[in-house]
Amino acid sequence: MDKKNTYYITTPIYYPSGNMHIGHSYTTVAADTEARYRRLKGQDVMFLTGTDEHGQKIQRKAQEKGVTPKAYVDEIVANTKELWKILDISNDKFIRTTDDFHVKAVQKIFKQLYDQGDIYKSEYEGLYCTPCESFWTETQLVDGKCPDCGRPVEKTKEESYFFRLSKYQDRLIEYIESHPDFIQPTSRKNEMLNNFLRPGLSDLCVSRTTFDWGIPVTFDDKHVVYVWVDALSNYISALGYGSEDDSYFKKYWPAQVHLVGKEIVRFHTIIWPAILMALDLPLPEQVYGHGWLLIDGGKMSKSKGNVVDPRVLCAKYGSDAIRYFLLREVPFGADGSFTNEALINRINADLANDLGNLVSRSVSMQLKYFGGVQPADYTVTDLEAEIHDLFKEIFTKAEENLNALQFPTALTEIWKGVSRLNKYIDETAPWVLAKEIETNEESRKRLAGVMYTLLEGIRIISILIEPFMPRTPEKIWAQIGLSGKSDLTAWEQANVWGLYPVGTTVEKGEALFPRIDMKTEMEALEKLEAEMKKAAAPKEEAQEPDNLITIEDFAKVQMKVAQVLAAEKVEGADKLLKLQLDLGGETRQVVSGIAKQYSPEDMIGKKVVLITNLKPAKLRGIESQGMILAATKGKKLTLVTIDGDIPAGAEIS
Ligand code: MSP
Repeated sequence: MDKKNTYYITTPIYYPSGNMHIGHSYTTVAADTEARYRRLKGQDVMFLTGTDEHGQKIQRKAQEKGVTPKAYVDEIVANTKELWKILDISNDKFIRTTDDFHVKAVQKIFKQLYDQGDIYKSEYEGLYCTPCESFWTETQLVDGKCPDCGRPVEKTKEESYFFRLSKYQDRLIEYIESHPDFIQPTSRKNEMLNNFLRPGLSDLCVSRTTFDWGIPVTFDDKHVVYVWVDALSNYISALGYGSEDDSYFKKYWPAQVHLVGKEIVRFHTIIWPAILMALDLPLPEQVYGHGWLLIDGGKMSKSKGNVVDPRVLCAKYGSDAIRYFLLREVPFGADGSFTNEALINRINADLANDLGNLVSRSVSMQLKYFGGVQPADYTVTDLEAEIHDLFKEIFTKAEENLNALQFPTALTEIWKGVSRLNKYIDETAPWVLAKEIETNEESRKRLAGVMYTLLEGIRIISILIEPFMPRTPEKIWAQIGLSGKSDLTAWEQANVWGLYPVGTTVEKGEALFPRIDMKTEMEALEKLEAEMKKAAAPKEEAQEPDNLITIEDFAKVQMKVAQVLAAEKVEGADKLLKLQLDLGGETRQVVSGIAKQYSPEDMIGKKVVLITNLKPAKLRGIESQGMILAATKGKKLTLVTIDGDIPAGAEIS
């Protein structure tokens, strides 16, 4: 497959957000692991990530803040970059859709598609979800709301340019069916074929006129390029497509894989290939749609206040532990839950206990039994032969799984090696052999063989975990005496048993992953989350309509049934009636603006609703002790009256 030995991998470009959560880190950590693996294998890797900065939502947010959209995105793009640094993301390029070269490339692409008739002008009417920047049809809505984010949609009609997506329908179906690896996992391929392609594609609205924070259409300045043509083109504009220097494009395109979350598979496997077909460019080899990391059973979102901040988690437990958790916990492709408990359990069980203890026990034993230096004279048995075979198999399976982006399975394979070595310590009981090393040469050689096997196994594991946990290998090498020995720690050397040099000296180091006290840590994390939720709360409230009151607010208003005993006009005020009301024993005087609709005679005997705890007020010099309720519409006014037989003075609640 990798004919040119180049490997081009991309993440989606992220919407700029000051609040990147752990779910956002998922795609990028996965892509980074793959990129690191490919580099270690000696491939020439281009790993691209970036930010998707245009659109109405950004424009609105910037307006709210009173800054220009560019100033707004500049600030938060810095957050994204900082997060990738914390997580050791090794991207080769970072593209911003506001980059000048990208803007130019998109304008060129749009013009070419227009000139060749793949883009035409018409009018769009549809249901638009602003936060998701997506148009939906009536049937796609869930409970009348956006199927992706659950927020209300707006009916929108405007002059727009359209891309002839429908023209590519048959070619797309044909391509997808004849390239079974193009959309992975297979379930997503079937979803695209059955839910979107076979039912038929409509042409796609590719420009907007209702906002201007976008890439201007060069030949019609009312229009800006609408999100997906802008966003998706990043994958080629970043390589210089359409510019004077397109050497990277020539070298790396087509991409080996676009790694994306499942909700954007549709855009990457239908719209993007159709655009590429229209441009007469080859399609990416694969689009892989992974699942979501869920929290409390739903997608993470700032507005739900359930955002887990990866910065905080990295600061607490180290970025390698977080990367490990993300890639180990959930089968890649499926949805999975994030819980603090699961995170701490993984760190304690897999990292502190299994891996951390293996390294620290082995180093301690080597120091205790052989002064830290690996003896040259050692013996091995059938047990070691079995371990060699297992490690060979682990290498092969780790590669197979990494080649197929199956990160959790690759880690499971590697941890088989970790577990096997821990079991090997129990089986060989070095502490028993150690008692005899002064007196029994065979036991001394045997113990040296056990130590060799442990350190050699650790060497191989330290290489295999490097794509996932870039910091930990160096720490292990420092302890097992392999720092700076790049010839012994290169990827391919994990496939060779027996490279650990005799005479190497180990050195005790700090615990690789300190054990976490579950109870204390859970409390600390819950407290932290409560604080974060509180911090998010005022903004949440601001999103609700201003006129909502609580039940407590409502309970402050006291209302009773009141029966009209007497009524008369107020001198000099043609709208007012003065009423005497019976509240079941107590009489109240109320002045009410109903004289145009009701005569005094009409009122006698009526049962109305009176607000009894309103501060008294004077109208035309006459005291009014409350207010009666009426419904109004324009000039129409009707009193709220009481249905059925209930006496005056009855409470209304
Ligand atoms: N800007 C578009 C992509 C354009 S690509 C040409 C976009 N941006 S995003 O910021 O909303 O999402 C970026 C990536 O983060 C997507 O792959 C998305 O699936 C992923 N995730 C966001 N929340 C997630 C989880 N809770 N879990 C896993 N991945 C999630 O979409």
